[in-house]
Amino acid sequence: MPILEKAAAKDQCSQALPKVPVPPLKQTLDTYLRCTQHLVKEEQFKKTKAIVEKFGAPGGVGEVLQQKLLERRDKTTNWVYDYWLEDMYLNNRLALPVNSSPAMVFPKQAFRDQKDALRFAARLIRGVLEYKALIDERALPVDFARGQLAGTPLCMEQYYRLFSSYRYPGLKTDILKVQMDGISSAPEHIIVACKNQFFVLDVVANSKQLNEMEIFHQLDKIMKMSENTKERHPPFGILTSDGRTEWAQAREALTKDSINRDSLALIESCVCVVCLDEPCGLQPSDTNRALMMLHGGGREKNGANRWYDKSMQFVVGMDGICGVVCDHSPFEGIVLVQCSEYLMKYITGSPSKTVRSSSLRDLPHPRRLLWKCNPHIQGLLEASGDRLLRLVNNLDMDVYKFTHYGKEFIKKQKMSPDAFIQVALQLAFYKCRGRLVSTYESASIRRFQEGRVDNIRSATAETLAFAKSMVAENAFSDSEKIKRLRDAITAQTNYTIAAITGMAIDNHLLGLLRISKELKMEKPEIFCDETYASSNHFILSTSQVPTTVEMFCCYGPVVPNGYGACYNPQSDHIIFCVSSFWENTETSSAVFVKALNEGLLEIRDLCNRSSAAATKPADSSQGASQPLRSGN
Ligand code: COA
Repeated sequence: MPILEKAAAKDQCSQALPKVPVPPLKQTLDTYLRCTQHLVKEEQFKKTKAIVEKFGAPGGVGEVLQQKLLERRDKTTNWVYDYWLEDMYLNNRLALPVNSSPAMVFPKQAFRDQKDALRFAARLIRGVLEYKALIDERALPVDFARGQLAGTPLCMEQYYRLFSSYRYPGLKTDILKVQMDGISSAPEHIIVACKNQFFVLDVVANSKQLNEMEIFHQLDKIMKMSENTKERHPPFGILTSDGRTEWAQAREALTKDSINRDSLALIESCVCVVCLDEPCGLQPSDTNRALMMLHGGGREKNGANRWYDKSMQFVVGMDGICGVVCDHSPFEGIVLVQCSEYLMKYITGSPSKTVRSSSLRDLPHPRRLLWKCNPHIQGLLEASGDRLLRLVNNLDMDVYKFTHYGKEFIKKQKMSPDAFIQVALQLAFYKCRGRLVSTYESASIRRFQEGRVDNIRSATAETLAFAKSMVAENAFSDSEKIKRLRDAITAQTNYTIAAITGMAIDNHLLGLLRISKELKMEKPEIFCDETYASSNHFILSTSQVPTTVEMFCCYGPVVPNGYGACYNPQSDHIIFCVSSFWENTETSSAVFVKALNEGLLEIRDLCNRSSAAATKPADSSQGASQPLRSGN
């Protein structure tokens, strides 16, 4: 059972928010059937339908579980929180880089030299400390929902976990520890990784936080210390890039020695990790920068200059490749964006605090973390490095900036931009594979106490009908296609609204399953069914992560034969980060991006032709339902 430590300090706004609802059982079961019918074979669906009907029948297992879930809702702040956290993250045994940890890629920095990079890092650290102070004082302004159902306040709890969380690897399940009692009594420190060495940077001296110049000098000392090859330790950080069980086993071996225990304790209690990376030797394209953030390029580059358990890990590359990579379990991308934007604005803002050398103190040297190695641990380091290399070589990433239009064009069509982009992603998949697959789109449920996310199942029957009409050569008229497009967008928008108001099905089904386990019941048939397994195998894993400052978010696929598709809609363009695995022969990020680009252009042309036809005088509108060639 994972421990989520939560001390008394609770955000007041969060307490005023409603609890996540438990949807009516029948509604969830009907939606489940509707979401899966067109994605599985007819025979299989018949079987599933019978199983679901039996489960939901009056007096059936479903009713018993639903009742228990309602009781759990009354007893807890958020009935799904722990279930979801374990299922989504803590029970997952895959390595954090690529498979789980998302990254924000900052604009490429033009550092003149190493000192310039350290000045940037010092400023970044100062920004972190100021942002953390706002968090500790609970002084961050409350977020309000934008877009669909705008205006309601959102739960702020995720912010409080940004710098206070640590994910411990476990043999079966990880443990997320969160220090939620505000300002800790221990003086704060940051861990700086440099040349695969780890250093403790105390950010408080004599009860006073270090200023930017002092941090810069400490970083400069770290740089010099890291160059001393005689004192170098093996690259222990690489262990954290491994599968969670492998890392848990390695950690057990490490903790046999008190020197290692002390070093681990210092890392586990830090505010964040700052990785000063060596130049990676690659062109700083968007795609390469995304790759470097996600996996550091393996042990030959900066792959060991990381500590993946720590929730916030900032990367400052000497070549200007910068960003942040995060353990996803404590918070969602939207909170990460808010923090990253604050920091970028802080860094590029007025330079007033940069050089005030008068107040410089003579500070002791930062401490290098010491490690005790032995042949067994050496073997583990090698094995982790090999597995990371495989992951690095496997990730097929394509960051694509679609510049033909953005949110504004879509809004002019009186369509939801998010729904539109989701439909375009489905069309792209259909173009590649001739079918739709179970899709995940994260929907925020921060309208509720301790709300995280639920899933918008974007592969709707309406979108399938639309995709078919777009791909069938000249078989459908424009008026039929636009009708199908509108139906697809309406279905997607309706699902979105259901999801953000706590009425989606994934959390609910998970809750029913977990309750049955707690009651030590035989696993209900609905959860043993092939349809349930395939509907939870998310070949397309998508997420909108919009930014207002130049930067973008990216992540890897969640299944071996899948795609990760993160998008950042802007007024006149959309950034897509598409990922897949080279080892899978059915996927290709470049092929997907090509289909996406093509589909987005075709949809635009369809919209333009349809509005042109709609504005024609009545007598000449006869031909509006005839298929027209693109560009007419
Ligand atoms: N006509 C014109 N404009 C419309 C429209 C329509 N039919 N429908 C929506 N719009 C406008 C909205 O008013 C909004 O305007 P704004 O930019 O001025 O705020 C804008 O289009 C965007 O709305 P929409 O595209 O519908 O989506 P959204 O912003 O509500 O986002 C989700 C939908 C699901 C992405 C969002 O609710 C959510 O949950 N986001 C969090 C996702 C997340 O957690 N990501 C990180 C995961 S790690």
